[in-house]
Amino acid sequence: MTDKKLRELLNDMTLEEKVNQLVQIPGSYYDKNASVTGGIENSRFSETQRSQAGSILGITGAKTLRQIQETYMENHPHHIPLLFMLDVIHGLRTIFPMPLALGATFDPNLVELTAQAAARESAVSGIHVTFAPMADLVRDARWGRVMESTGEDTYLNSLMTAAMVSGFQGNHPGEPERIAACVKHFAAYGKPEGGREYSNVELSEHALREFYLPAYESGIRAGSELVMASFNTLNGIPSSGNHWLMQKVLRKEMGFDGVLISDWASIEEMIHHGFCQDEKEAAKKAIEAGVDIDMATTIYANHLAGMVKSGEITEACIDEAAYRVLRLKNRLGLFENPFKDGDEDKEKEVILSGEHRALARKAARESVVLLKNEKDVQTGKKLLPVNSEEIVAFIGPYVQSKGLHSTWAIKGRAEDAVSIREAAEENMVNENVMFACGCGMMNRDNGMILKRHIDETLTEADLGIFDEQTEKQIEREALEAAAKASLVVLCLGEHRLLSGEAASRSDIGIPMVQLELFRKVSEVNPRIVTVIFGGRPLDLREISEKSMAVLEVWLPGTEGGNAIVDVLTGAYNPSGKLPVSFPYSVGQIPVHYNEYATGRPLNGKEDIAFYRSRYLDIPNHPLYPFGYGLSYTDFVISPVELSRKTIGGAEKSLKAFVTVKNAGSRKGTETVQLYIRDIAASVVRPVKELKGICKVTLEQGEEQKVEFEITEEMLQFHDADGRLTSEPGSYLLWIDNSSDTEAGAEFALERKEHI
Ligand code: GLC
Repeated sequence: MTDKKLRELLNDMTLEEKVNQLVQIPGSYYDKNASVTGGIENSRFSETQRSQAGSILGITGAKTLRQIQETYMENHPHHIPLLFMLDVIHGLRTIFPMPLALGATFDPNLVELTAQAAARESAVSGIHVTFAPMADLVRDARWGRVMESTGEDTYLNSLMTAAMVSGFQGNHPGEPERIAACVKHFAAYGKPEGGREYSNVELSEHALREFYLPAYESGIRAGSELVMASFNTLNGIPSSGNHWLMQKVLRKEMGFDGVLISDWASIEEMIHHGFCQDEKEAAKKAIEAGVDIDMATTIYANHLAGMVKSGEITEACIDEAAYRVLRLKNRLGLFENPFKDGDEDKEKEVILSGEHRALARKAARESVVLLKNEKDVQTGKKLLPVNSEEIVAFIGPYVQSKGLHSTWAIKGRAEDAVSIREAAEENMVNENVMFACGCGMMNRDNGMILKRHIDETLTEADLGIFDEQTEKQIEREALEAAAKASLVVLCLGEHRLLSGEAASRSDIGIPMVQLELFRKVSEVNPRIVTVIFGGRPLDLREISEKSMAVLEVWLPGTEGGNAIVDVLTGAYNPSGKLPVSFPYSVGQIPVHYNEYATGRPLNGKEDIAFYRSRYLDIPNHPLYPFGYGLSYTDFVISPVELSRKTIGGAEKSLKAFVTVKNAGSRKGTETVQLYIRDIAASVVRPVKELKGICKVTLEQGEEQKVEFEITEEMLQFHDADGRLTSEPGSYLLWIDNSSDTEAGAEFALERKEHI
């Protein structure tokens, strides 16, 4: 439909009909299989509101959505199509590694492909919009939704957010098998006080602009059709009513003109925040802040029309919002084809296709991070990859678990997943492998608390808990297996339900029952590889100390078992890098590599001087730093060389380069990282910041030059007045394979007048 026609349609609509376009109904009003991702107590829709709403969330399925659309459009006075929205965060039915694990690939191109595959499965299932990517920066492992971020770094998050938007939307969301993206949660939801879900966010405008906003902006620049307002207050103002954040920053400064949708009930919740006296005030503050759609409550439906008639709000702001919703429907081509790509035959062909499974296996392989791999004194070889002659005992609650997807894989099914056991039986010499569960995912009491807390229908199998007698029996079997084996692969970690929304934890340790099993097994057989699952960085001190090798595999998704066995056997040489620091302990949080120096920085890790910025009882540096990850081969990176020592004068840029050599015994991939430090500026600058990445795959003995162009733009930051600027002076630059790097090269940016 032309924009002219769209405007004419808008003009033909009554005030109530325009308001109805701003209402989003939970799918549970239409389909018992709908996913409910928020408190349903807020939703009290009338039959008219239900039948006239502009969009629905939480339902999938070509047949179901076609039926709903046909009935809806028949009854709608202008036959305007419904929008179908769903959280497709890291896959619809083929589940890819959770976003934090995708961040660990340091491979935006691969991440874009996973989003495209997710879009394909969603589009043929009748879905039009996904509530992804999440662009929240997260430096707090206590917060359950760290799993849904791509980590602690602004630059990496910006790359990944743009890649996911492009994967979902392609060049245009109206294209076949594409869906509209929704960058969320605007803004700074990932910094709740105390790491406690939905808690307040206090953040200087400087830090907001410097570290937290760029990834959202990157998604908007990539063309995201929607943005979602966050639950949290930002410096005392809830995002859904934050006029400065939404109208000045988002729409004016960032130029976002798409649909702004609230989070689930976040408009109504401004009353609970103590920001609005009543529903009318919440409706007024939200619509005037530019929030176009009220997700899952009747605040807009019950109050907007009346407030226009009473003159408390203008009809113009209703028209603006309704136009943006209609325009989104038009950009998706729904006026011409209200079912878009929904097709039952295509669904059967595309969902969980071999191609998608292969991509999921590739992404899971590349997300695995090798944290430790000690040499075995007896064999003189590193413990991993596992030698095919080893007698291997796979032990732990994750050995046969198929719950390898996050709580944000809402349409994912455990039965579609490949467990470690299934993969080992398929890909390893059967006579040489044994399997034993050993213990539950958590102790029984904790499991029952979780059951009451999350969902009474959860079974003991879902929770991975056993009765006392079974616990004793499976432990005995595990210790027997450990004694017989030449090598133990312990598969441990946090249950998938212990991360995600509303799953903050004050303790980031491995569940105690699992740690106890680990200790008993290590008494029986010290040749241990520990494979760690979970949605957040965990406290791995004891595991790391007593294991000879450690793999972080996150929640790897549908092909997780295959990918992990590919890494264990050496079919794939691990290449993942940490997108988030692993704290030494929960007391270190927030811990992140790009910190400020302070006036009394440690002078190296061994500095014991008293008057230093430090803890008395733990080190400053994390157990494992951002950007860290080992390989089965050895990469040697030469010292950095610079084409020049200054930029900004006649020369606008310089080249910084290294030679990367595969000095080991097998092919591998290294992620080379560029870090820069502004040594002195009008506001203090981080001790280093990631400014470039380059993945290189080298055969044994092969070497390659890796070069980065250093420009004035890379050196820009927000000064004390919020201006994006660069300042002349000295800089340090590193090119290495982790943020934990020392020997930097110095260069200078000359005075601006020369630029
Ligand atoms: C949830 C989440 C948000 C999600 C929305 C719809 O509460 O905060 O990320 O997209 O509701 O499910």
